[in-house]
Amino acid sequence: MHCVKKIKENLYWVGANDRRLAMFEGVYSVAGGVSYNSYLLTDDKTILFDTADKAVQHRFLENVSYALGGRKLDYLVIQHMEPDHCAALKDIIKIYSGLKIVCSERALTLIKQFFELDFDYEKNTVIVNENDTLNTGKHTLKFIMAPMVHWPEVMVTYDTVNKILFSADAFGTFGALNGAIFADEVEIEKDYMDEYRRYYANIAGKYGSQVQALLQKAAALDIEMICPLHGFVWRGNLSAVINKYALWSAYQSEEKGVMIAYASVYGNTENAAEILSCRLREKGIKTVMFDVSVTPASEIIAASFRWSHLVFASTTYNAGIFISMEELLNDLVAHNIQNRTVAVIENGSWAASSGELIKEKLNKCKNIKIIEKTLSLKSSLKDFQLSEIEEIAQVIAGDFPKTALSASASFNTAQKKTEEKNVSVDPNAMFKFSYGLFVLTAKDGNKDNGCIINTAIQITASPLRISIAVNKSNYTHDMILKTKAFNLSVLSESAPFRIFQQFGFSSGKDNDKFKDSSYNDRGANGIRYVSENTNCMISGKVIDIYDYGTHTIFTAEVTESIVLSEERSVTYQYYFDNIKPKPQIKKEAKKGFVCKICGYVYEGDSLPADFECPLCKHGAADFEPL
Ligand code: FEO
Repeated sequence: MHCVKKIKENLYWVGANDRRLAMFEGVYSVAGGVSYNSYLLTDDKTILFDTADKAVQHRFLENVSYALGGRKLDYLVIQHMEPDHCAALKDIIKIYSGLKIVCSERALTLIKQFFELDFDYEKNTVIVNENDTLNTGKHTLKFIMAPMVHWPEVMVTYDTVNKILFSADAFGTFGALNGAIFADEVEIEKDYMDEYRRYYANIAGKYGSQVQALLQKAAALDIEMICPLHGFVWRGNLSAVINKYALWSAYQSEEKGVMIAYASVYGNTENAAEILSCRLREKGIKTVMFDVSVTPASEIIAASFRWSHLVFASTTYNAGIFISMEELLNDLVAHNIQNRTVAVIENGSWAASSGELIKEKLNKCKNIKIIEKTLSLKSSLKDFQLSEIEEIAQVIAGDFPKTALSASASFNTAQKKTEEKNVSVDPNAMFKFSYGLFVLTAKDGNKDNGCIINTAIQITASPLRISIAVNKSNYTHDMILKTKAFNLSVLSESAPFRIFQQFGFSSGKDNDKFKDSSYNDRGANGIRYVSENTNCMISGKVIDIYDYGTHTIFTAEVTESIVLSEERSVTYQYYFDNIKPKPQIKKEAKKGFVCKICGYVYEGDSLPADFECPLCKHGAADFEPL
């Protein structure tokens, strides 16, 4: 029975999934299966974009036949000649005689290499070059060459009417589709991004400059949808995958942290790697560890594309690098890894040589900084070498921003110096910052929540990144920590005090903050935002988390942003001067303290030093006597 998905009017997914395949291309394990996507456009002419792998040929042919609905097939556009997309070519040509093949010159060479077809190429092949077009009735297809993404004959196709990019292998992933077809039907970041990265790094990782060339060409197009040959169709939030490709193809790390890969025969090399990992964690640095004898190389290659720092620890074996570590390094060099800082640990009971050999291999790659100190073990780690591990950890830590741990250490030192010099620290100085005010919203399952924050800034323009600081006592904080996604609504000067009451003066754990409100808009990430008395909405996908005691700083990639009005953003000062009601203190009021932030009054002769405002959660420093 056919299994066809409608993508858009007159456009159908006619591909199929394979969950029996053990090794994609004979190399990459695909426990979650793989999809072979093919698309049929039923315009005045009918156009099929690529075919499918032989493993799913039967279902694919059934799907094409059903979607055609009895019509003949006019064109077969061959974007990529790798057999996972062209295996059914012979059958398609046989069944739909009279069709024309549309492909690049190089693809035609490969067609003749792979198949011996009874096909009049002279008469029935349309060879296309860069920016050539094909009118199919209501649609015009534009062909764009994308050599080496992933083979030399690859081209992509842009439907100028529907604004769809048929992107061949680009923007695809391992993993069967499991009933969904659009990326927004699943949780990409949580459930699929590791596989997107593994697919990219292993399939196209070597060809960064060619991928960048394609990204540049794509940037000149107005694209509303991306239809790749594997994985999900993107119909929104395209930057989620495009930004990843921009990073990966430039060999820039996605996250600051350390990937440790080790090869250990009897556990002693592993022991040194574990201890290094502990020292790094104690400095607040993220680490991941892989035993190269167990974890498939494709996963470690993907992790190497993700993290900023790499550690390779290997025993010496047959006077060389341990077998699985050597294979991994060869693979990594072949995939063109660049721009990383690397530390090396070697082991050898009589002639340790793996360290130098590892460095020799990695020195073939561009911009690899190898940390001078190599930890060299003789059979096992000794007491005196713990300081060498600490030395390596410190060199790595020198590349990292201050974390909560080190920030708190430097805070204590600074405070001590201040006390010694008898220099005053006036908390009122903090009110001179030109903060804005924002409604921060998040969603966990069916639960929506939001809170007011005053700390949000843009960090970088390319890629577009922002950071926010959130008090840990806010429920929204916990939701973001869990889901890694949020929306930020920038409040404007028209914001009434009730918005601050609604989102700032109670906990979402006990209340539904959106109950009885008219804020029903949601971003592409599914999270609500406030569209009234605000001037813009920005969606963030968290890429880094810094623990600062009472607060967490989240840095995030901007995945969506909408300008809602031209009103001026409200500042902290404006809020105090014009929005926040002045505390109504009765003349006969008792002694007490008033919160400078929200106006809460604490009655009593003295305010406990650890007092926290029950409304806005600010501490005693933000109270003043009545
Ligand atoms: Fe999915 Fe390069 O083939």
